[in-house]
Amino acid sequence: AYTWYRRQRNTQPIYRNPGAWFVLRYEDVKTVLQNHATFSSQPDEKRGNPTNPLRSSILSLDPPRHHQLRGLVQQVFTPRAIARLESRIEENVHHFLNQVSPQGKMDVITDLAFPLPVLIIAELLGVPFEDREQFKHWSRNLFEGNPSLIASTQQEMKTYFLQQMKNRLQEPKDDVLTALLHAEVEGEHLSENELAAFCILLLAAGHETTSDLIGNAFYCFLEYPEVFEELQAHPEGIPAAIEEMLRYYSPVKTLPRYATQDVVLGEQPIRAGEMVCPFFASANRDETQFPDADTFNIHRTPNRHLAFGAGIHACLGAPLARLEAKIALKIVLDRFGRLSLDRSMPLQLKSSSVVFGLKQLPIFFL
Ligand code: HEM
Repeated sequence: AYTWYRRQRNTQPIYRNPGAWFVLRYEDVKTVLQNHATFSSQPDEKRGNPTNPLRSSILSLDPPRHHQLRGLVQQVFTPRAIARLESRIEENVHHFLNQVSPQGKMDVITDLAFPLPVLIIAELLGVPFEDREQFKHWSRNLFEGNPSLIASTQQEMKTYFLQQMKNRLQEPKDDVLTALLHAEVEGEHLSENELAAFCILLLAAGHETTSDLIGNAFYCFLEYPEVFEELQAHPEGIPAAIEEMLRYYSPVKTLPRYATQDVVLGEQPIRAGEMVCPFFASANRDETQFPDADTFNIHRTPNRHLAFGAGIHACLGAPLARLEAKIALKIVLDRFGRLSLDRSMPLQLKSSSVVFGLKQLPIFFL
């Protein structure tokens, strides 16, 4: 994909794919993200993209409702609430690593990158971690399924979360579900649809993407073993390395927008109602913004990547994702001497058009 992005940036940076315009250059992607009035996140029924799993969540809403609901999540996602999770993340990284084979073999995705973020988001929401296999299944359906599977999965998730909330009515807890249930916007509680969409978004957005970040980080270590060694000697470089990992292998490739009026982007006329896909992953390899963009360089400054988006929909979970990755990598660098790819097993990329990550990443470690 990266070779294709590069070619398109140089030849047809706003590319007509059937059903959507693909926007590939950094400046154009930024323009789309920062002009929510022209490039709306809200699909209407006629022009809507039925494969967007999160259509009734804040991700797919425009102001003013977007602004009102986003304010609510900001109240629950305070820096204090995130910092409180720090010791839980540490404990769990150790716990997951203690489970892996003493012969020095593991599958990074199954053994660490997948279960860690699910556990943390389940804890934040307040739903039982025992339901994780169910979450995993739902999440795969949402990101890789066909439109009817996506619709039925959303329905199942809605039923599940509304049931969980009903339990909270009887037995309130100190968790996000209870907080959302009692939250009011302009004197009114959220609708059932909004409540369910929130939970689906937090679970899906908070888990698949962070798993991909951690998996992709290991992949970078395998590709660049010298970086692994450098960070072992200088763990203070981990946060900057994570930013470069986010840029180099961006977990979210693109999310759709819809033109609200006729507009010219770059030199390309776009008509009202057409779908426009800003490619974060391509913007993050744009040479005009990042010299030697295809080189992985953990000392890159500045590194104004768009892996978490920009504008009014910029990722709300970025501090949590960064914290999980930082703790996981720090412990791995501390506990493992060296990593190598287990070539006896296939390395598989996810087939999703939205997220970029590995299905499995078998490794040996010393
Ligand atoms: C929005 C990426 C982790 C919650 C976004 C957007 C991107 C993104 C690109 C913007 C979408 C758009 O412009 O249409 C990522 C990546 C992550 C990550 C790469 C991990 C490495 C998380 C986590 C959570 C989260 C851990 C929550 C626990 C959200 C929410 C939004 C969002 C609620 C919607 C914000 C809005 O529409 O106002 N994320 N995300 N994300 N993210 Fe994340």
